[in-house]
Amino acid sequence: MSEQLQKSQSGAIGEPMNRVDGRLKVTGAAKYSAEYELPNLVHAVLVGSTIAKGSIKNIETRQAERAPGVLAVITHLNSPKVPGFAERDHPAEPPTAGQPLRVFHDNKVVFNDQPIAVVVADTLERARYAASLVKAQYDQDKHQTNLEANLGQGYLPAQAKKNPKSPLADYQRGEADAYKNGATKLEAEYVIPSEMHNPMELQSIIAHWEAPDRLTVYDKTQAVIGTQRAFAKDWGIPEANVKVIATFVGGAFGNGLHNWPHETAAIIAAKKVGRPVKLVLTREQMFTMVGYRPYTWQKIGMSATPDGKLTAITHESVGQTSTYEQFTESTLQQTRMMYTAPNVTTRYRIASLDVSTPVWMRGPGEATGAFALESAMDEMAHALNLDPLEFRLRNYTDTDPDNGKPWSTKYLKECFQMGAERIGWSNRKQQPGSVKSGEWLVGYGMGVGTFGAHRGSAKMKAILTKKGTVVLQSATTDIGPGTGTAMVQIAATTLGLPPEKITFQLGNSTFPTAPSQGGSSTVNTVGAAVQDACIALREKLHQLAAATPNGQVFSAAKPEDIVIMEGHLSLANDKLAKAAYSDLLRQNNEAEVEVTIESKPGGSDRDKYSMYSYSVHFVQVHVQPLTGEVRVKKVISCADAGTIVNQKTAGNQMMGGAVGGIGMALTEGAVIDDRYGRYVTKDLADYHVPVHADAPNMEFAFVNKPDPHVNALGTKGIGEIAIIGMAPAIANAVFNATGKRIRELPITPDKLI
Ligand code: MOS
Repeated sequence: MSEQLQKSQSGAIGEPMNRVDGRLKVTGAAKYSAEYELPNLVHAVLVGSTIAKGSIKNIETRQAERAPGVLAVITHLNSPKVPGFAERDHPAEPPTAGQPLRVFHDNKVVFNDQPIAVVVADTLERARYAASLVKAQYDQDKHQTNLEANLGQGYLPAQAKKNPKSPLADYQRGEADAYKNGATKLEAEYVIPSEMHNPMELQSIIAHWEAPDRLTVYDKTQAVIGTQRAFAKDWGIPEANVKVIATFVGGAFGNGLHNWPHETAAIIAAKKVGRPVKLVLTREQMFTMVGYRPYTWQKIGMSATPDGKLTAITHESVGQTSTYEQFTESTLQQTRMMYTAPNVTTRYRIASLDVSTPVWMRGPGEATGAFALESAMDEMAHALNLDPLEFRLRNYTDTDPDNGKPWSTKYLKECFQMGAERIGWSNRKQQPGSVKSGEWLVGYGMGVGTFGAHRGSAKMKAILTKKGTVVLQSATTDIGPGTGTAMVQIAATTLGLPPEKITFQLGNSTFPTAPSQGGSSTVNTVGAAVQDACIALREKLHQLAAATPNGQVFSAAKPEDIVIMEGHLSLANDKLAKAAYSDLLRQNNEAEVEVTIESKPGGSDRDKYSMYSYSVHFVQVHVQPLTGEVRVKKVISCADAGTIVNQKTAGNQMMGGAVGGIGMALTEGAVIDDRYGRYVTKDLADYHVPVHADAPNMEFAFVNKPDPHVNALGTKGIGEIAIIGMAPAIANAVFNATGKRIRELPITPDKLI
């Protein structure tokens, strides 16, 4: 225990160090965006439309205005104008995502529960009461909220039209739709419902106009800088005048990657009343206006030779979007690169419905696409009477069949081996329904996941304080994966300092710029910037030390030999060497030594490789044949994600992703009543996220070999591959247990009896 504890505190890359903010979080000391206390703070509550499409004929606000404590009732009739809205008055077609609903801009209603008014009062209760008094009459138009009834409306997204090389554009390798002529072929349709992120922390914002052209927001977001830019543009003010604070984020899973109507409503309200305004969504509103995984229909055509070689795959998909934004995601990418098939066709379409805009949700399009692809692989293996793992091995590829490039690294076979061994894959029987445990049918299934190993650019500031501690600053966020902890470990390892001497500050737009926290790329990008900043800091310290009175010994040494001590620098190979901070700082003419760097992907060989993370999920399920109940009994997820910076937080991510996959497979699905275009699943009693009782013991294993081409740390990204491939692994196990192939998620008991 004590040895374990000591180990976990050395802070070296790879070690299972405890979270640096764990204590703050579990004691309630961590401050989330709705928890800031500002003088004169007032409360806002949204009023939502009760129709899905049409226009507001009349909106009755007088009663609400007269209610106790009310400061303002804002609608399209009296809203302060948002300058940035006007330029979007006449778009040729629905704009691409990133241009959210123009709140209170006009009387149009484009989805059910669209904010049509915001009530501001001195207390939350008074605001909520007054909001209940606002009534609207509408001119109602006929709405469409059912994707399957509107598949024919699917269209090629604008990005794909503009750029035929876009991953969203139609794709063909070899012959089009060649599966139709295959020896053994299958054709199947797959459906996933809309799924809601439902992080524990509700979406919330405090908007504060510190001056007529200076805005501060305490906002739940995964994109500090993106949010700063969006609001600066909306209000026609310099970016530097918008300050975004998101120090702690209580889960997000993608729904903080976009700006939503409630944020704009709060900013408008703060403008109107001239006081800071707090707006926290209700759980019900979390279902209607802050994004979701889009309802998606897919079709796969697949053919193979009798000896198990894929000859062709056609993968089509139609996902839903809103009428005011084109939301797209990478649903079909893995079909182009995962297996050796010589003939591959993909067609991606979106269909505009009278719903709010979807957004990326964990593993985004890839998780959706993998449900179809990995289910179809299992179906084909069954048709060929081949073990599904063996079938995947026969179609394994050592170069990217999409572009012919080698993989930067790919250790998926190692993942297969580790996982198959631990789940006891050899106990699987090819014939469905052949294994039993008492009354229960037992099944085994597997599913593969992949996601691009993306790296962006980030700036980073590193400061050496007088006390010999190091502070790093970045405008990234930590939505729960343990980003801050990983960054401390990277800095500790690079500088040779104990982790408690390092502080990583984040979630503030005044810190050096970082991309939004999405697409499994934060450690790839921001982690690389931490490493670069620490190297730059050490080089600067080396130079400064060399210029101190007894500096010769430092100039003769290398920067990496510098050791940061309390009050002075020393050298790893010469403990007597000493450069006092007071001398150093005198050289530098400052109170502290600081460097700011920019870290970018680059290197001449970067374009020569295809870079992906990989995972495989093996599951064992039990199915009750009379009730159709499915119990996931065992999960083994293995990942090739490059260097693992922290075994513990990385394992947490795999666990969270696997639980998300259980939800996707068995319990989650938003249900819309198409008569009204309104969700009937509106709380966690109607919409079922898996709970502890739904999650079995889970095991995880990482290959943990560095990828030298993504960054110098060798990381590739974990967050998305943790869920991608999990839902089909469960669907495949259910088939193996019951012989029933369920192609529409979630696999609820009614589908199995
Ligand atoms: Mo993730 S869907 O990139 O937050």
